[in-house]
Amino acid sequence: MLDARTETDTLLEVNNIEVIYNHVILVLKGVSLKVPKGGITALLGGNGAGKTTTLKAISNLLHSERGEVTKGSILYHGEPVAAQNPADLVKRGVIQVMEGRHCFEHLTVEENLLTGAYTRRAGGGTVAEDLEKVYTYFPRLKERRKSQAGYTSGGEQQMCAIGRALMSKPETILLDEPSMGLAPQLVEEIFGIVKDLNEREGVSFLLAEQNTNVALRFAHYGYILESGRIVMDGPAAELRENPDVKEFYLGMSEEGRKSFRDVRSYRRRKRWLS
Ligand SMILES: Nc1ncnc2c1ncn2[C@@H]1O[C@H](COP(=O)(O)OP(=O)(O)O)[C@@H](O)[C@H]1O
Ligand SMILES: [Mg+2]
Repeated sequence: MLDARTETDTLLEVNNIEVIYNHVILVLKGVSLKVPKGGITALLGGNGAGKTTTLKAISNLLHSERGEVTKGSILYHGEPVAAQNPADLVKRGVIQVMEGRHCFEHLTVEENLLTGAYTRRAGGGTVAEDLEKVYTYFPRLKERRKSQAGYTSGGEQQMCAIGRALMSKPETILLDEPSMGLAPQLVEEIFGIVKDLNEREGVSFLLAEQNTNVALRFAHYGYILESGRIVMDGPAAELRENPDVKEFYLGMSEEGRKSFRDVRSYRRRKRWLS
């Protein structure tokens, strides 16, 4: 079991962090989580829960948002990330794929992928070999290699964003809402590729998702974030079977399937908060 591993297998450790925007807006109120080596860890929660803020705190991208970690610590391989800029962190193996699949629209798909090689970590093959490897995981990108990224589909742009991150030879990818705005079939395809990258390339993932259902099918462990606090965590298989998670996040309960709107109206009944 992943959660029974020893401390030495922990890549990333977030200890009780608080994040404040604009000196006054308290958004994270004591968030702690661990990302083990070789795992897919899901950070779940609705819109505005604080998922993106958590990922940006880890990759040191809050400054440009006027955000600040005011309490707690974030350690990667036991060393604080606070002293590193985002480019240093990429060299240490941590890269974030931003929400909203950011590609350079005017560059081709292949040029986008090549920009990812700029902060590569040492070791391994040539850039050309790495590019071919990305194409083996994302055959669609190979087909579209000469297309201007701005004219490719939403799914292809998400693949391009993940592919570009892979070109830096990451140890850990912080992946922010890969399913956003994509049709279910494409979401399955992208999560399938994430699973392959995890199993075959040993890339560890911290995956922020509102789509609890799909995330808990592919992740090993999950944390549920609500209003800036972790309200529950556990192995994904256990979370999937938890009655509260079923009711409030998977839209299912003993009475049968519920629409998300119904589920929301029952929020105050949440057992873990009462
Ligand atoms: N730059 C910012 N300045 C002020 N408040 C922000 C900023 N970014 C996010 N927030 C607020 O922080 C909260 C958490 O946002 P976010 O981390 O984006 O949540 P999620 O990714 O889970 O949807 C929200 O209430 C949001 O309005
Ligand atoms: Mg977000």
